Amino acid sequence: MKKIQIITLFPEMFSGVLNSSMMWKAQQCNAVEFRIINLRDFGIGPRQQVDDTPYGGGDGMLLMPKPLFAAIKDGKNYDFNAKVVLMTPKGERWKQSTARKWADDSNSYIFVCGRYEGYDERILTLVDKQVSVGDYVLTGGELPAMTVIDSIVRLIPGVLGGENSAAIESFSDGKTLEFPQYTRPEVFKDMKVPEILLSGNHAEIAKWRQENSFKAK
Ligand code: ADE
Repeated sequence: MKKIQIITLFPEMFSGVLNSSMMWKAQQCNAVEFRIINLRDFGIGPRQQVDDTPYGGGDGMLLMPKPLFAAIKDGKNYDFNAKVVLMTPKGERWKQSTARKWADDSNSYIFVCGRYEGYDERILTLVDKQVSVGDYVLTGGELPAMTVIDSIVRLIPGVLGGENSAAIESFSDGKTLEFPQYTRPEVFKDMKVPEILLSGNHAEIAKWRQENSFKAK
């Protein structure tokens, strides 16, 4: 079973996402196990401090190396083979093909959610991969980690209902995008479902879908 651990200062952010819908189902069918590591538990001193000001001056606070090293060690104690993934806008852009690879491999992962204005560079010595979800900056790595984890877990064999649904959807071959789809009713506010989809002619439908797979503007 794939083990996914998440190091965060905001464990409560994950409870809704990991305990609903597909993420919940994936745990129920033993496809994945989630473990949240609260970085605050490894904070220093009576106030469990996790951040401090940068050497050389500058705005903001950086996550200190000591609590992060201890939190990652805790994750490795639980699963010593786990790969350490740092969520950061400087990372490699996350792609569907990588989600597919990580869903299919037998690795377990520890996701480190960066926070505040950054982290002490020395934590990179423990990191196997830096991942970004896009060229924009979020307040922390929590939302990116949820995005990446969702994209992996839904592809673990047995998690999605129809095994075909992941195969035919957008980006799965890295090129084609999903075709337009319709459900009941046939006419809604004067908008009709394309006739061909009602025809029952599977070859023609497949052709129409192929021709109508394109990117939204
Ligand atoms: N943390 C803040 N912004 C991020 C991004 N775009 N991707 C990954 N982690 C982040």
